[in-house]
Amino acid sequence: MNVLDFQKMKDEGCKISMVTCYDYASARAIAASSVDCILVGDSVAMTMHGHPTTLSATTPMMALHTAAVARGAPSKFIVADLPFLSYRKGLKDAMDSVQELITAGAHAIKIEGVRGHAEIIRHIVDSGVPVMGHLGLTPQSVNMFGGMKVQAKTETASKILTSDARELEAAGCFSVVLECIPSDAARRVTDLLKIPTIGIGAGPDVSGQVLVYHDMLGLNPGFAPKFLKIYANAFEAIHAALNAYDQDVKAGRFPSAGESY
Ligand code: KIV
Repeated sequence: MNVLDFQKMKDEGCKISMVTCYDYASARAIAASSVDCILVGDSVAMTMHGHPTTLSATTPMMALHTAAVARGAPSKFIVADLPFLSYRKGLKDAMDSVQELITAGAHAIKIEGVRGHAEIIRHIVDSGVPVMGHLGLTPQSVNMFGGMKVQAKTETASKILTSDARELEAAGCFSVVLECIPSDAARRVTDLLKIPTIGIGAGPDVSGQVLVYHDMLGLNPGFAPKFLKIYANAFEAIHAALNAYDQDVKAGRFPSAGESY
């Protein structure tokens, strides 16, 4: 897949599948799957580093994880998140961050919101770097939202969302993530835009879906928002395997003769 395939897939009515990834081993598993593309999300600050929000992600952190993912999944299209405030401190800082992520192995960057940085998005696109937008529940604004809450619930908020989405398209974005918004609002944006929308908690009427790797594989026990579908119970499988190993060691069953030199 390359950046042109996003538009092609929307035009042909073929849904796009995306999953987050942050490390080499998981990237190898995704590389062996049919999932279309990878997001090195700033959710890495939470899933891999244990922070309570994405606000702790930094450009060096994003670049380190992007490079590991690129080594594990060299054939997949990789989008990397521009972290909190990295694109709000002027063009030079934004472009330095973009350069770090693209040279680390990303093919495109994702940026939250549009108000106040549409010009920067235009400049990134004009520099030859594909940009994915992100609207709705943009987690870098969690403190403005007063928590991780569903957005665009009123008619007015839905109209603002639609106008922001149009602005992202006009700025040259090749796609837009819509996070945690009512299905009706997501459908309206998807129908209005030419570029594809990628939903997470935005219902079925979008051009594709993205899920966080740890959430969809059951590696984040206790996290069960309505939108999440859990495809495996990996936490339980790992837990059982670790206990089996511990019991084998204590009972002298491991290593056996066949596992010894
Ligand atoms: O960082 C992330 O994982 C994301 C997705 C939730 C879209 O931005």
